[in-house]
Amino acid sequence: MSPSVNSTPDSEAIRSDDPSTLVHTVYGSAGILDVSSSRLLAVVFSLSLLVLWRLWRFTVLPMLYPDQPKEFPHWIPGHGRAFFRDSNGLLARARKHFGNSKEPFALTAFGMTFYVVTQVKQSVQAYRNSETLSFEDFVQGLMRTNGNSEEVIKAVYTALPTDKAGCPNPRGESLGVLAQRMHAHQLHPGDNLVLLQKEVQRWLDCHVNLGDIRASPSATSPNFKSVEVPLYRWCSEYFIQLGQDVYFGETLAEIDPTLPSTFLVFDELIWKMLYQYPDVLSSDMIKPRSRVIASLNRYFQVPQSQRTGGSAWLINAMENEMRALGVDGEDLAVVVFHLYLAINTNTRKTAFWVLAHLLHDLDLMAAYCRETAPAFRGADLVDPFMIQDAAACPQVDAVWHETLRMSGWAASVRLITQDTLIGNKRMCKGNRVMVPHRLLHFDKGIFGEATHQFRTDRWLNNKDLSRSPSFRPFGAGKTMCSGRFLARFSVTTFVATLLRRFHVELVGQPAFPRADEGRPVLGTMSIREGDDFKVRLTPKAELI
Ligand code: HEM
Repeated sequence: MSPSVNSTPDSEAIRSDDPSTLVHTVYGSAGILDVSSSRLLAVVFSLSLLVLWRLWRFTVLPMLYPDQPKEFPHWIPGHGRAFFRDSNGLLARARKHFGNSKEPFALTAFGMTFYVVTQVKQSVQAYRNSETLSFEDFVQGLMRTNGNSEEVIKAVYTALPTDKAGCPNPRGESLGVLAQRMHAHQLHPGDNLVLLQKEVQRWLDCHVNLGDIRASPSATSPNFKSVEVPLYRWCSEYFIQLGQDVYFGETLAEIDPTLPSTFLVFDELIWKMLYQYPDVLSSDMIKPRSRVIASLNRYFQVPQSQRTGGSAWLINAMENEMRALGVDGEDLAVVVFHLYLAINTNTRKTAFWVLAHLLHDLDLMAAYCRETAPAFRGADLVDPFMIQDAAACPQVDAVWHETLRMSGWAASVRLITQDTLIGNKRMCKGNRVMVPHRLLHFDKGIFGEATHQFRTDRWLNNKDLSRSPSFRPFGAGKTMCSGRFLARFSVTTFVATLLRRFHVELVGQPAFPRADEGRPVLGTMSIREGDDFKVRLTPKAELI
């Protein structure tokens, strides 16, 4: 409807007998017509420009540069909104748009161009290439977002002498790169990992009991015999406490007894940090993040020799290396905050998903208990390593893999530092390559039928499946998660101990919780808001 048609005061005026009013009104209407037609022209012009731009960008350019991946068409300003609402849904739509072809395609979101690689052979190429594809860019971005200055980032990513003091550095790498080797030294199979695993065993032995669970912030006790907990929240709090104590000793809990709950609040809002949401919309995420960083800062003010319960080799070694570069105070706390995040963000959720699946399949739960029984003497976990043996505990192994397959969200992202060929397509410097693991995990050609169902038989029937390059819950290549052995150890022994010591049952008949597929995380998906459910834990009388 044009404004001139609707202008009732002017229609009244036209009926007036005063000729001057009439002249005025006619000129006035003509003015309105002028304005509306010039507006219309502007709209038509802008639309034509937009259509021309779209034609140029998504039809002409791909013809001029057939060696580059085709881009999934969009209108200005890109796919940011759709990516934000459901990134995996967007990637699936894009793949369908290109006829489910195996070629990499491009996609623009948040002003960045991502080349999406969905073919396994090409993803292997991407993971192998650490020369022109950089993971460090992602870590540096996190450091910047969380408060490290450019000076500190430069110090951490400047090559160091081969003969420096502290950790050996035969390749003359920067501390940022050397840190990957330090993680591996602590977490890959060997004596250092066994030390941490024994700490986990000791922690579980001390804390998986009625008294301690009752003291959890989220627990309620309906009677003196049992305790009820919201499973997602409780697993999260318990696992964060476990990871924190095992890595940092008890000093951190003494400094801030509520740190696990504070971290949990931050971690459930981590998508705001990953999308670099404006500060005015993120105070709910920023406040708990600042508090975790402040507590870590206070922790590092306590001399290493005075920290109770000791701490993992990695924490002290990282602190020494950072201080040698002149990085201390809050800057040191921010760097170690990323480690606190890596230790705690995924394991808590994986423990929850394993238990959720078992609670909805009681036969599977019984099989889990049967297989892990030889690891216990009475209520005591005496041989946790037996639970890691896939031959002795095939169902435990299959539950672990199927849970990771279904609840894994992560996508590996690398910055392209020089034009790079992947799958015969040229990927241009300055853009990013993305390998979306979740899409690979639902490939029927690899994982068999009904990939949206939780089925342990796919792992039981194919012992090589966990080695498939389509199964990437921990990423791959040089930056593959170094914590994967400790994560599996902690989750499987925790679940086994809990089921050994307690009758675990659903309170009521809650539906299976829905995963929050929309919001980005760094590995395992959270549940949708409102989907947490209560379980009742009753100690097994025969074991008391
Ligand atoms: C089930 C639990 C876990 C999952 C699903 C998981 C997943 C991942 C993923 C997807 C990556 C990124 C790999 C890439 O982009 O190439 C990663 C990296 C990493 N994870 Fe984990 N993770 C888990 C537990 C842990 C634990 C318990 C620790 C430490 C104790 C840990 C330490 C790390 C570190 C240090 C990195 C960075 C890799 C590097 O720079 O060396 N993760 N993890």
